[in-house]
Amino acid sequence: MTEVKKDVILTGDRPTGKLHLGHYVGSLKGRVELMNKMNYKDMFVFIADAQALTDNFDNPEKIRQNLIEVALDYLSVGLDPQRVTIFVQSMVPELTELTFFYMNLVTVARLRRNPTVKAEIEMRGFGKDAECNENEVSFGTGIPTGFFTYPISQAADITAFKATLVPVGEDQKPMLEQTNEIVRTFNRIYGPTLVEADVLLPTNCICRRLPGTDGKAKMSKSLGNCIYLSETADQTHKKIMSMYTDPQHINISDPGHIEGNTVFTYLDAFCSPEHFSLYLPEYSNLDELKEHYQRGGLGDVKIKKFLEKILMEELEPIRARRKEFEKDIPAVFQMLKDGTEKARQTAAQTLSEVKRAMKIDYFNDKELIAEITKKFEG
Ligand code: TRP
Repeated sequence: MTEVKKDVILTGDRPTGKLHLGHYVGSLKGRVELMNKMNYKDMFVFIADAQALTDNFDNPEKIRQNLIEVALDYLSVGLDPQRVTIFVQSMVPELTELTFFYMNLVTVARLRRNPTVKAEIEMRGFGKDAECNENEVSFGTGIPTGFFTYPISQAADITAFKATLVPVGEDQKPMLEQTNEIVRTFNRIYGPTLVEADVLLPTNCICRRLPGTDGKAKMSKSLGNCIYLSETADQTHKKIMSMYTDPQHINISDPGHIEGNTVFTYLDAFCSPEHFSLYLPEYSNLDELKEHYQRGGLGDVKIKKFLEKILMEELEPIRARRKEFEKDIPAVFQMLKDGTEKARQTAAQTLSEVKRAMKIDYFNDKELIAEITKKFEG
């Protein structure tokens, strides 16, 4: 398949923890496929440490530690720094400058309406704004401005690279809408400068949100229900064997339920007909396996072992690559540094176009200097 349009692809992750299977099916795997298949102009993947600090400003050590974990996760899933520019957000100061200019174009009311920000405010326990109290050093449970305005900084991340395609999860759609609004407002006021971007969601809806191993809606570090890309085969084995299935399926002969059964949800996300011929030839496809489970007579251990074989096939190459990259951590930092340097050149170009459009080029604008000189001569 040949693409007509040459896209600039860009996406990023907050380094608040190691990446897990949910990240893998929801985005990382798709990125590697894009890298391999698509005829793109440029591809950027970055570590959004500055954004992570907006609600972790009191724990910079956590962000620092996870920066390298995420970089290792990127490399181990197969993102190739020769073909993808991997960079660190905070090391591209042009992004901060763009954010500051974009802030003029977004109202407080608009930020408040952003559904992702709304949900996060509730989740983080940033309740009502604290009463203004001069003796109070902390802002209590109030919303930090940096956190509140992170959608604007995200617009800077996207537009600085003139990204046209942003592969992200469903929860990031409001960010893209807000970004495109900023683009339109900017271009209307200052002239055509910035480019709108399309969101690219995972096609398989099971992959959009993989549940945790405990059956809860989402893999989350705090719930301890994640399968990490960086864990050992033994750790994954234990997690699979204790996965949530159907609590009413007590004896093998009992009929079992598929809905809400995490093992089947994972099979939906990962298994293909070839896996049956390889590992479970008594069945020809997932429907047959499901049917047997629902009828009764199929035990959880059997389906878990099947899932384990499939996941191992996927995770083993990732683990092997990670081991290699872990042997030379300074090289991983160097890769990030080189990628950041490259990213800065692109961002600096956009920033200079933005400033020119906004007439912020006082020192380089010979006409302006001549004109004002004349004004004072006269
Ligand atoms: N908000 C994204 C997340 O939480 C991370 C992110 C920051 C991002 N800037 C971005 C994603 C720009 C895509 C494009 O996962």
